[in-house]
Amino acid sequence: MKKIAVLGSTGSIGRNVVEILKAFPDRYRAFALAAGGNVDLLARQMAFLHPEVVVVRTEAHVRELQKLVPAGGCEILWGDEGYAAAATHPEVDTVVSAIVGAAGLLPTVAAVRAGKTLALANKESLVMAGDLLMSLAKEKGVDILPVDSEHSAIFQCLAGQRKRDVSSLLLTASGGPFRNLDKAAFARIRPEDALAHPTWSMGRKISIDSATLMNKGLEVIEAMHLFAMPVEKISVVVHPQSVVHSMVAFCDGAVMAQMGIPDMKGAIALALSWPERLPLKMDLPDFSNLNLRMEAPDLERFPCLGLAFEAAREGGIFPTALNAANEVAVEAFLQGRISFSRIAALISETLMRTENHGAEDLDCILGADARARSLAESLVA
Ligand SMILES: NC(=O)c1ccc[n+]([C@@H]2O[C@H](COP(=O)([O-])OP(=O)(O)OC[C@H]3O[C@@H](n4cnc5c(N)ncnc54)[C@H](OP(=O)(O)O)[C@@H]3O)[C@@H](O)[C@H]2O)c1
Repeated sequence: MKKIAVLGSTGSIGRNVVEILKAFPDRYRAFALAAGGNVDLLARQMAFLHPEVVVVRTEAHVRELQKLVPAGGCEILWGDEGYAAAATHPEVDTVVSAIVGAAGLLPTVAAVRAGKTLALANKESLVMAGDLLMSLAKEKGVDILPVDSEHSAIFQCLAGQRKRDVSSLLLTASGGPFRNLDKAAFARIRPEDALAHPTWSMGRKISIDSATLMNKGLEVIEAMHLFAMPVEKISVVVHPQSVVHSMVAFCDGAVMAQMGIPDMKGAIALALSWPERLPLKMDLPDFSNLNLRMEAPDLERFPCLGLAFEAAREGGIFPTALNAANEVAVEAFLQGRISFSRIAALISETLMRTENHGAEDLDCILGADARARSLAESLVA
């Protein structure tokens, strides 16, 4: 029986994780559930999973939760210390890191430091602190299993292969809701248009990232760290049907692709069960009627992808600054404070005003994150 801590259990990924834990009670036990502020959903998850530990964001959320659940039987923690306690609890085997954004970094680092197997959805951790996390994982002998469907696909295509035979990684991108939209119409895009993703159902922040293609840019940096690949060997292919989840090309011209219907449960389940596979009873793609379409991304209409490649090439604290500026810009767009087109411009201006330096340790990374955030905020204002 594997004991699991789900960080971000109330989110889009977290809810899928909970479904899998419910479907395989003989294999998994939800030892800890950590949410932000959605105490109603957390209380419902507690009622059927009976975790030993739950975590919420603030002390006020603890009080709200206590009104919804019977007293006793479960430890209720809050804040940074609470998330770290759940991620490092001696009884936990695997930590699912599915908090959104930079808030996921500290508990992810804590889990790796404590030697926990990591099922990683929070790509922002690797974007901000990839070198640090990967070297910590190596030192502690920790497996980092990707939850992102693209990285899960690449992970599967690489299984049993020699790294030196790999010539490139090809990340597929759906292209988002504005793949065919004229550039002139971008300024009129409203948050509700950008939140309506054509193939994947996801949280708000990643939905906007998918619409700008920043999500793919963050994934390029994630892949660079996870698979120890130089950015020059990583490319992006737009594939609207989202059936090919990503590909690996080898030195003999062979290309391996991993396919499946677009449903995050596949990648999540594999990250929990690897090297086994769970009987998920998923439909297969309809191979009797499958016209796979692939095309190059348009960096002129989607400059965020180009900015992420640039930050990946620069290294140092640039990816951290890119991520911070993006989080500020996405939030400002969702609040109606800036236009869709301004998201990329704001990130670019933040990077231009950022002096790059090495990302040696966590303090240095958190400092760079804070500086880029306040710079981006001032640009929004
Ligand atoms: N959704 C996908 O299909 C998908 C695919 C691949 C990778 N990912 C990655 O997975 C991560 C989660 O994405 P998502 O779509 O599941 O996001 P989401 O639906 O917005 O859920 C985010 C989760 O994080 C919690 N949270 C938010 N801010 C927090 C904070 N400051 N402290 C603690 N917890 C906080 C939320 O809690 P409350 O709701 O309780 O406030 C919720 O449980 C992201 O890094 C994303 O890039 C997502």
